[in-house]
Amino acid sequence: MRIFIDTGSVAEVEEIAAWGVLSGATTNPTLLAKEEGDPGAIVQRICELAKGPTSAEVVSDQAGGMVAEGRALHELHEHVVVKVPFCEQGLAATHTLTSEGIPVNMTLVFSSNQALLAAAAGATYVSCFMGRLDDISIDSGVVVAEIVDAFRAGGTTSQIIAASIRHPEHVVTAAQLGCEIATVPAKVLRQMLDHPLTVTGIERFRADWETRPEFGEWLAALVSTRSGQPAGTATS
Ligand code: E4P
Repeated sequence: MRIFIDTGSVAEVEEIAAWGVLSGATTNPTLLAKEEGDPGAIVQRICELAKGPTSAEVVSDQAGGMVAEGRALHELHEHVVVKVPFCEQGLAATHTLTSEGIPVNMTLVFSSNQALLAAAAGATYVSCFMGRLDDISIDSGVVVAEIVDAFRAGGTTSQIIAASIRHPEHVVTAAQLGCEIATVPAKVLRQMLDHPLTVTGIERFRADWETRPEFGEWLAALVSTRSGQPAGTATS
C-alpha cells in the first residue's frame, strides 16, 4: 500500500518526505484554510516535495464550475489530481475531467454504492473516509472491505484511498483490506514510528558498540577508505 500525506502544510510535507516513504499527498479546503500564503504556491510546493499525485479540491457546487476549477487546478502542476466531492454534480464533473485525461480523486465517499458510482464515472481514485464513519458508529473497516470486494469483483481500475485516518490502526486496517493508498496526517505518521523496544534496542546496540572503542575506529577507517578521505574526516 502506498502512503500519501494528508495536509496543507508545506513544512509537514518537507519533514515526512525526507523519510522517503511518501508517494503523494492530499489537501482539502479545510487543511489549506489553516495555512498562510498563496494556496496555488502551496499546492505546487507540495507537488514538488511529495513527487507524486497531489489532490487539490474544487469548491463549486455545479458540474460546470467544478470542471473549470479542476482544469485550472490541474494546470498548477503535472502532479495535481482534482479532488471532487461525491454528489450528482461531482459525478458529472468527474466524467468530464477524466475524459479529458485529468485525474480525479472522488472524495467524501462513505458507502460501497457511492464508491461504485464514483468508479463508474471514471474516478481515478476513490477516497473512503474511515474516521468520519467511525465517528457516527459505522464500522469503517466493514465499509472499506465492501468497497475493496466490490471493486475487485467488478475489475474496476479506480484506486481506493483510505482517508480520514485518525490513528495508526486505521492504516494497518486499510493495508490488510487491500486499499491501494492511505492518506495519513503527519501526526499519525509520527505515531507510526514509535515503539519503545526500538528506542531501547538502538540505545543497547550503541552502548554495546561503545564498549569496544577500537571497533568504532575500525568503522570510521572503513568509511574513510571508501570515500577516499583520511580517517575521522569523512562526512555522512
Ligand atoms: C482526504 O483526502 C481528506 O483530506 C481527509 O482525510 C479528511 O480527514 P478528516 O476527516 O480528519 O478531516
